[in-house]
Amino acid sequence: MQEVIRIRGGRPLSGDVTISGSKNATVALIPAAVLANGPVTIVGVPEIADVDSLSEILHILNVDVIQRSNDHLIIDPTNMKNVDLDDDVVTKLRASYYFMGALLGKYGYVRMKMPGGCYLGPRPIDLHIKGFEALGASVDYDRGCYTIKADHLKGAKIFLDIASVGATINIMMAAVYADGRTTIENAAREPEIIDVATLLNRMGANVRGAGTNVITIDGVRELSGCFHEIIPDRIEAGTFVIMAAACAEEMRILNVIPKHIEGLTSKLLEMGAKLDIGVDSIVVRKAEKPLKAVDITTKPYPGFATDLQQPLTALLTGAEGISQVKDTIYKERFKHCLELQRMGASIELGSGSAYIKGPTPLYGDKVTATDLRCGACLVIAGLMAEGTTEIHDVYHIDRGYDRIDDKLRALGAHISRSMID
Ligand code: EPU
Repeated sequence: MQEVIRIRGGRPLSGDVTISGSKNATVALIPAAVLANGPVTIVGVPEIADVDSLSEILHILNVDVIQRSNDHLIIDPTNMKNVDLDDDVVTKLRASYYFMGALLGKYGYVRMKMPGGCYLGPRPIDLHIKGFEALGASVDYDRGCYTIKADHLKGAKIFLDIASVGATINIMMAAVYADGRTTIENAAREPEIIDVATLLNRMGANVRGAGTNVITIDGVRELSGCFHEIIPDRIEAGTFVIMAAACAEEMRILNVIPKHIEGLTSKLLEMGAKLDIGVDSIVVRKAEKPLKAVDITTKPYPGFATDLQQPLTALLTGAEGISQVKDTIYKERFKHCLELQRMGASIELGSGSAYIKGPTPLYGDKVTATDLRCGACLVIAGLMAEGTTEIHDVYHIDRGYDRIDDKLRALGAHISRSMID
């Protein structure tokens, strides 16, 4: 038995949708919370499977997790035990690697399985390891498990060869209790990094420069509990803006920080989409003329986000002309194109690029969400298509989108879930 999502396409969408808290911030904030010595309250937690998996890991570590309401979590590490994380739940998501930095930072020791997550081509963690080693830790990998330990963590200057989001956050967490100053150069600048630094500073840490490419962390002796509200999810916001450009009469997307998705909105405006960008909302209206093809190249923030490349590709199948989508972050992140071809799209694949010829009508078919953002792309394609689209492996979508079908149904989409053999 498996769950599938069915979408009957061609329905115009209209109304309001409220964006949830950022998935990629949340999955780092939860491990970061264990660095405190008292309860940390986090609000704006999205209802996604990755949060369930991280909560399971917290239970293994004997951390109390109290769910006050749907989006309100209290994480209390007062009685925490640093046990080995060799449970399979660690492999369900990539972000379990944030427990490496958090546990190393707090205890000087962590043993855990290799993290999992979406397959987007090779996703090494050599820069995380390089950072831990620079702080004085030794790292061993044996039979699928990492053992990272240090008698004494000492601040260091660390240059990241690639501005990696995960490595930047993991090193920040490992360094909060280290002696002296740690400097991360060529740090990633994504908004989620600022959110994690904000939480750490609220706990009493001394992290400066998050959001720029040089971050300094001055080690402290004590971190305490605090209250933190998560930033809105820029990728969920971008996904709904794309959906609206594809299918809406008029849609208001609320709880957005528009600056976080300027890479996307500038491209949509270039295509001829009608966007009204407010302070914390974006209104999308149906364009009078057909949308035009556009070229995009994914880049680290503030460039065009790789996580929005796949959702945008669905929209590009309906745009006039040939669009080139080039992914410089994950050169193999193109499995969604094979599913779109099945639905009638005209796409040629090159090395690290896709060329989309439009407009081509899409037709409902059985397709597979091979990863999270491929799933989002197929939901958009399903909304655009004639007939019914049946999406398989929806657990990928549920890992990162908070109640996507409820939100779409409220906007007028014909979308349902069922179990099939
Ligand atoms: N990289 C290395 N070595 C490392 C780390 C990264 O070579 O040690 C490479 C990666 O292979 C990739 C590039 O550096 O080519 C950037 O990777 P980064 O470390 O920035 O990515 P990540 O931290 O693993 C996060 C998001 C991804 C998002 C990327 C890029 C989380 C949990 N994941 O991954 O989100 O695509 O940043 O913005 O925050 C998604 O939400 O669908 C998703 C995959």
